[in-house]
Amino acid sequence: MICVIGGAGYIGSHCVKRLLENGYEVVTLDNLEAGHRQAVLGGEFIQGDYTDRQTLDDLFRTYPIECVMHFAAYASVGESMTDPAKFYRLNVVGGYTLLEAMRAHNVPYLIFSSSAATYGEPQQIPIPEEHPQVPTNAYGETKRAFEQMLRWYDVAFGLRSISLRYFNAAGADPDGQLGEDHHPETHLIPLVLLTALGKRPVIKIFGTDYDTPDGTCIRDYIHVTDLADAHILAYEALKRGAPTTAYNLGNGLGYSVREVIRTAEGVVGHPIPQEEAPRRPGDPARLVASAERAQRELGWAPRYADLRTIIETAWRWHSAHPDGYGDRA
Ligand SMILES: NC(=O)c1ccc[n+]([C@@H]2O[C@H](COP(=O)([O-])OP(=O)(O)OC[C@H]3O[C@@H](n4cnc5c(N)ncnc54)[C@H](O)[C@@H]3O)[C@@H](O)[C@H]2O)c1
Repeated sequence: MICVIGGAGYIGSHCVKRLLENGYEVVTLDNLEAGHRQAVLGGEFIQGDYTDRQTLDDLFRTYPIECVMHFAAYASVGESMTDPAKFYRLNVVGGYTLLEAMRAHNVPYLIFSSSAATYGEPQQIPIPEEHPQVPTNAYGETKRAFEQMLRWYDVAFGLRSISLRYFNAAGADPDGQLGEDHHPETHLIPLVLLTALGKRPVIKIFGTDYDTPDGTCIRDYIHVTDLADAHILAYEALKRGAPTTAYNLGNGLGYSVREVIRTAEGVVGHPIPQEEAPRRPGDPARLVASAERAQRELGWAPRYADLRTIIETAWRWHSAHPDGYGDRA
């Protein structure tokens, strides 16, 4: 049985769906601080805090868990710079509590949601896994710190894990059942589509003087269902004896902010109000993954790699659910 922590969130809920479709038994643990109960489409659900040792002890005593997929974290880069303590408490101290509980209950495998933010300013593009990890914000630092803990928990205690370093998660369930509903929303594609729906007045383009073909930042958008599938492949690899390691998950394709807006306009069929704004500090010009190792070693092949397809799936969700899951003010 697989325990999905943070399974009511954006990426976790898509992962729960794919696990169920693949015949796995799932128990989701989520405190619903940011997640949505309706997004958990099946399996067992426990509303609880993963940083609470008693909750974890009860869970691991009740269910025969073989693998934890760990999505629960604070992930807002800006907030991590003003309140790093909050991020260390959940992402690192919480992670320590989880690992200790797994160790006590002999849970052998963990898949961890890491991030491109662990690399910091790229020294080469596309970014390979061996690239130095020098985060430029506290969020990325907490992800790097937990990756390091995982390494030593394997060396000393034999707890095997795979860290998956996502680039920009995007898109929505191609069946239209699940989508992205963050409060506040900070990701480009939902912001563009919410602007297209008239839910927001304008989409701001932060920086138009970068050293890129159209002057705007380039990012690597990877479909959330492709991310979910990578988790299943990573779990199967661990079961086959794969060592503790980390993989990038991205398309290897970069798209600029202007390209995203232009493609979204094509999908929604009308112009989207936009406004040029100054650069934000700490935004690298380009972040593009080399995900060649995940493809080679895990057999991962993104199915929804094309930007238009990614935006179409997201638009299907947002246009049918303009207020998201409707459970937040
Ligand atoms: N979205 C991206 O583009 C992206 C990119 C790189 C890495 N990541 C990482 O992927 C993971 C998932 O991201 P997401 O966008 O789905 O986030 P999300 O906020 O939608 O999901 C996180 C889930 O964890 C739950 N949670 C938070 N604290 C908890 C606690 N103490 N106990 C139990 N549950 C708790 C929340 O309620 C939420 O359902 C995060 O770890 C994030 O850092 C995301």
